[in-house]
Amino acid sequence: MKIFSGTSGKFLAEKIVQNLGTELSRLEVFVFPDGEKRVRILDKVLDEDTVVVQSTSSPVDENYMQLFFIIDALKRGGAKSVTAVVPYLGYQRQDHMFREGEDVSVKVIAEILDTIGLDKLITVDLHSIKIKEAFGIPAVELSALPVFAKVILEKGWRKDSAVLVTPDMGGIRRIKILSELLNNMPFAVIEKNRDLETGRISAENIEGKISKKAIIVDDMISSGKTVAVAADLLKTRGAEEIYVFATHAVFSEKAPKILQESGVNSVYVTDTVFVPGEKIFPKLKILSVSKLIANELGD
Ligand code: R5P
Repeated sequence: MKIFSGTSGKFLAEKIVQNLGTELSRLEVFVFPDGEKRVRILDKVLDEDTVVVQSTSSPVDENYMQLFFIIDALKRGGAKSVTAVVPYLGYQRQDHMFREGEDVSVKVIAEILDTIGLDKLITVDLHSIKIKEAFGIPAVELSALPVFAKVILEKGWRKDSAVLVTPDMGGIRRIKILSELLNNMPFAVIEKNRDLETGRISAENIEGKISKKAIIVDDMISSGKTVAVAADLLKTRGAEEIYVFATHAVFSEKAPKILQESGVNSVYVTDTVFVPGEKIFPKLKILSVSKLIANELGD
């Protein structure tokens, strides 16, 4: 098996190959003066099973184009199979038409990947269960929840003193799984509203009892507003310590400041998305999913 990486997957791909006791294979991405790119695979892939690691976070379109070109180059090089490890699958939130006249972005992405000959997709914590159905090829969804459960247990946070909280209804599946991993830790659900025109987020109600320690669990953090609004509400319901566990650090420009200034104690994310130095803030803790992915590839 030969493992390659696009530019946005490098930081994680290096940890994955380290876990597998191997090295990254080589490719070159050449950027023309007008911004177009050309990919060249530098190692032989004829009759090889190949893997490409590329996270499709910001700049989303650029990272997707690079992924498409790498898959095409591997196919043209005669690879027996191409598996894409896309730890964060960009456009996954647009998985259906929210309003008449909209596109279904993730379906378009899935169709392109199918059409260019990708054999298998491996990704981490999808926004909804139906995203996998958009793909005509096998799609494996790994979960960072066991990584979160391990930290929570190591911290000694137990079900008699802590409550898991999903900041919206869409997170119920996720929070039930984590609750089971934590010996049925109780959970609460925030009723969140997002105005599709203005993007404004509001939350006024919580279903479930809140303990002094609240653990917010989400699939991703983008603007950071969901976390900030949830933390404010939890404080009014008696939470004194608030921790956040979110898989994908899709941080927009202002997210680090919003999160640092919010009422939460720490924000745990994973390395499915690379967090550059300027987006690191004191409350941030980064966990790794490299072992999960390496185990899947090694199977
Ligand atoms: C929404 O349904 C997701 O699960 C996240 O809660 C959301 O994408 C977070 O976005 P933001 O950080 O912009 O509030």
